[in-house]
Amino acid sequence: MIVKSAEFICSNTQISKLPPPEKPEYAFIGRSNVGKSSLINMLTGKKGLAKTSQTPGKTQLINHFYINEQWYLVDLPGYGYARISKSKKEDWDKFIRTYLDKRESLQCVLVLIDSRHEPQKIDVEFCNWLGEKGLSFVLVFTKADKQSSIKTDQNIAKFRKALLATFEEVPQFFVTSSESKLGKDEVLGFIDEVNKG
Ligand code: GTP
Ligand code: MG
Repeated sequence: MIVKSAEFICSNTQISKLPPPEKPEYAFIGRSNVGKSSLINMLTGKKGLAKTSQTPGKTQLINHFYINEQWYLVDLPGYGYARISKSKKEDWDKFIRTYLDKRESLQCVLVLIDSRHEPQKIDVEFCNWLGEKGLSFVLVFTKADKQSSIKTDQNIAKFRKALLATFEEVPQFFVTSSESKLGKDEVLGFIDEVNKG
């Protein structure tokens, strides 16, 4: 798929104010600083489209981007960001989970995992929650340019093994780098296939 147009539509803290659920939608979720906003910019080829930062906690709203006037990419706030109050964390968590659970037009959740690390409990638990809710998701391993492909493959194998404790089949996965554009065609191709039904 070629991204011909990518347009910022809105930022939201209220589910009631989201765009009407009339177009297929793909949500990017993962730990704070994992590279969600960078991946959206890489996939769309628009550097400043989603705001990125070295400081975790940059994205604090549900951001809708309209692609090729056909479907939405959604940038979500990261989970597991330590430097906010507990009550705020709980509010965000509830808001994001309500969005994921109730959004009728959501086709698939892309769960971003930092490929540099061994499986983290928070990521595995989040995948388990998606599974419990019966939500369709794929794994996107980010920042693959930061280490050798051997190390990346090892961490991916460990993560898939961790999921096998609860899932009979592990979901599809992609390896990406927003720096080198690794995985761009694969992720866009996947979305294209789902859009075609
Ligand atoms: P929050 O909005 O805070 O949850 O973070 P995020 O998941 O949107 O992360 P963001 O895209 O802002 O990236 C965080 C940092 O990681 C930035 O400094 C990016 O430049 C860097 N980064 C993201 N993806 C990659 C990548 O593939 N390779 C490298 N080397 N750096 C990356
Ligand atoms: Mg972000």
